[in-house]
Amino acid sequence: MSIAIYPGSFDPITSGHLDIVKRSCQLFDTVIVSVLNNSAKTPLFTVTERIDLIKKATADLSNCKVMHFDGLLVDFAEKQGATAVIKGLRTISDFEYEYQMAQLNKNLNANIETLFMVTNANYSYISSSVVKEIASLGGDFSDLVPSEIYEDVRQKIEKGR
Ligand code: COA
Repeated sequence: MSIAIYPGSFDPITSGHLDIVKRSCQLFDTVIVSVLNNSAKTPLFTVTERIDLIKKATADLSNCKVMHFDGLLVDFAEKQGATAVIKGLRTISDFEYEYQMAQLNKNLNANIETLFMVTNANYSYISSSVVKEIASLGGDFSDLVPSEIYEDVRQKIEKGR
């Protein structure tokens, strides 16, 4: 059985992320969308909130699971029996960073492969930060997040204003 991990902060999940999840679900028996810690970031949404949003957005994908892990990505992947980690590439600058991460992770665990999937061009300019910024300034971000979570994101950001 082929298992892949799709890791990220998902603060919150965007339409670009969801596109990668859907395409990955067609390639692997199971895709685990994994909420992991990026030590360089302070998330707005709690882990539970981020997991709930991802679950809502992926409810119709029967081979998609959502989980959280506190440690190293490669340790989590091995624990879950995954052979691949999927990373979305939006731009050349993403590649430079992701290439370094892939080498680092390969060095930590040679059994886990990093696979790059090119982000749909419609979503290449989206990031979770952009969603939060537009939402906090009262702009329309309905195309940037899955429709199922739009209202939850709007309310959370409205509360924090
Ligand atoms: N569509 C839209 N946005 C996308 C996207 C896509 N396809 N792919 C990435 N993005 C956005 C993300 O939302 C994120 O936006 P933000 O910076 O505004 O939050 C940005 O692009 C960067 O994404 P990514 O590089 O995947 O970072 P991340 O913070 O989401 O995830 C982890 C990084 C959690 C996977 C990484 O820190 C990790 O593996 N942590 C575990 C600890 C570990 O193993 N460390 C060792 C490696 S150093």
